[in-house]
Amino acid sequence: MSDQQADVLDVIEGLMQESRTFPPPPEFQARALVRDRSLYDEAAKDFEEFWARLAGELIDWFTPPTKRLEWDPPHCTWFADGELNVSYNCLDRHVQQGHGDQVAYHWVGEPANETRDVSFAELLEETGRIANGLKALGVKRGDRVGIYMGMVPELPAAMLACARIGAPHVVVFGGFSSESLAERLQSAGAKILITQDEGWRKGGKVPLKADADEAVAGSPSVERVVVLQRTGGDIPWNAQRDVWWHELVADVPAECEPARMNAEDTLFLLHTSGTTAKPKAPQHATGGYLLHAAVTHRLIFDIHEDTVWWCAADIGWVTGHSYIVYGPLANRTTGLLYEGDPAYPDWDRHWELVERYGVTTYYTAPTLIRSFVKMGPAYPGRHDLSSLRLLGTVGEPINPEAWLWYWKVIGQERCPIVDTWWQTETGAILISPLPGVTTLKPGSATVPLPGIEVDIVDERGTPVPPGSGGFLVITRPWPGMFRTLWDDDERYVETYFGEYGRGVYVTGDGAKQDSDGYFWLMGRIDDVINVAGHRLSTTEIESALVEHPAVAEAAATGAHDPQRGQRIVCFVLLKAGQTHTPELSGDLREFVAEKIGKIARPAAVLFGDDLPKTRSGKIMRRLLKDIAEGHDLGDTTTLRDADVVEELKRQADEAFGRTAS
Ligand code: WTA
Repeated sequence: MSDQQADVLDVIEGLMQESRTFPPPPEFQARALVRDRSLYDEAAKDFEEFWARLAGELIDWFTPPTKRLEWDPPHCTWFADGELNVSYNCLDRHVQQGHGDQVAYHWVGEPANETRDVSFAELLEETGRIANGLKALGVKRGDRVGIYMGMVPELPAAMLACARIGAPHVVVFGGFSSESLAERLQSAGAKILITQDEGWRKGGKVPLKADADEAVAGSPSVERVVVLQRTGGDIPWNAQRDVWWHELVADVPAECEPARMNAEDTLFLLHTSGTTAKPKAPQHATGGYLLHAAVTHRLIFDIHEDTVWWCAADIGWVTGHSYIVYGPLANRTTGLLYEGDPAYPDWDRHWELVERYGVTTYYTAPTLIRSFVKMGPAYPGRHDLSSLRLLGTVGEPINPEAWLWYWKVIGQERCPIVDTWWQTETGAILISPLPGVTTLKPGSATVPLPGIEVDIVDERGTPVPPGSGGFLVITRPWPGMFRTLWDDDERYVETYFGEYGRGVYVTGDGAKQDSDGYFWLMGRIDDVINVAGHRLSTTEIESALVEHPAVAEAAATGAHDPQRGQRIVCFVLLKAGQTHTPELSGDLREFVAEKIGKIARPAAVLFGDDLPKTRSGKIMRRLLKDIAEGHDLGDTTTLRDADVVEELKRQADEAFGRTAS
């Protein structure tokens, strides 16, 4: 067992000590869409037939598929002869059925009193216009369109417009730096970039267009930049290249024929951090993805006509793609779209919105719940939360204390909590309770959904018995599965299917199953750090650091953080002649934030005359983590220079206010 895996298991042991169980509350169960185990039984008999039945019921096909799964490990197709259009499924069919006036998004801007309700009919109209606008700019089926925006209703409209004309979108989270944006635009070969003048965040303005300009300067494939006016602030303008959104849509009709897409055509690429410096771009197909997003949204979040849905993620991450845009719209759900920060103007912003809009179903990340816990119950206490019926979490394991707080203070002991496990690569949720059926255990994502088959294996790929920890793998394809990595099928095969055979998908997560068959997930076992639910690669951070003129060598590690799950701690060896000062430490943290994005800002940079290496020169990663977390370091005699470690430990303890041991 590797050191990293041992760490993971320690934490799982801690989690599993919470032994209380929570069966579905009877009032919830009485009206739940799924109340018994029949779906599990149906899927166990024939999982392909199970998905095919749902594909027939939940999706409107232009040409219904006769094919189901085709599996040539590690490549799969689902419904490969079916034809459909995702935007038609999210918009047109609802309007045609008389639901045009239903609100798709209650949009709430960050500045006070700025709100806008967008109906399905209005969203269809805006989508049609921007789709025609993109066509007018020369976007054709198969062209990639970059999107770098804040949380405004035009963002889903832009995505749906891409889907409408068959141009895969590449959304880049608005918090990423211009350099990260450039890298993603280039790797996708994006032809167009859609952005906005500025965004609002924590009461300040985010210079999206200015950052986009820098990125586009280094991305030769980008021909035109479409700019939505949001704040009206002054922005740089390139008259040959830039075009205002409002001018583009004013000149074109609202009707745009939805393209007949094959189920296997690419719907989008979405970059995520891997274990190398270069982010990879999982590529998602049209039919299987839409089905998986819609089914999981409907059944896990128990969607009814009167549901008011709020997924508080950012659309720039996969959670927003699947559970703000595609799943909810396919299911004709009314949802909330909030532009700003949960603490702006104060920490009760979310609860004020829950009360104002009568939110029934709220989905967020454990890191935010821990912040709420820290701020105390007075904030939710200011508001009437009685509309809530169901709560969810995603992105990282939730510690039982935070779970119980969520249950008591937010859900008022009435709302089941669905802890949903999935990844950018999986497209949609794979392990989760069904809230009308599953007895919950705080800290466990419970069991795989019907149709999903996972296992926990050891280094050799042998399944481990219940109670033992190992690597979480997925042992058969699912509809929302990414089809490959954009432009790098070799990396797809090697990264995900290289370990235990071509048919076994390696998730990169450690897990353990208890004697009831429940899955306890805890953290990555590769070089991925999960900060506040966001994936970052240690290598990416290290390569950013060594670009700084003062840095000779760098190593990064993820250390436990009570609020954010993990924090980034960097170790730096300076070039000869450089001296380490608190200012330089601050500069380096800022440098990484500028290179990658604020989410990657290290919590601390520690300086050593060397990095902790073995005599053969290999960085001891386990030791980095122990130093960063303030653990006892044990035997360091195998190190090249043991004094280095003492000094690093002193700096780490100082940085995190620990009394030196
Ligand atoms: C982690 C986010 C524990 C996990 C949808 C996974 C979780 C990574 C959970 C994917 C959960 C996500 N419990 N860990 N409920 N959900 N993770 O691609 O390590 O941003 O591999 O997708 O988040 O992160 P990604």
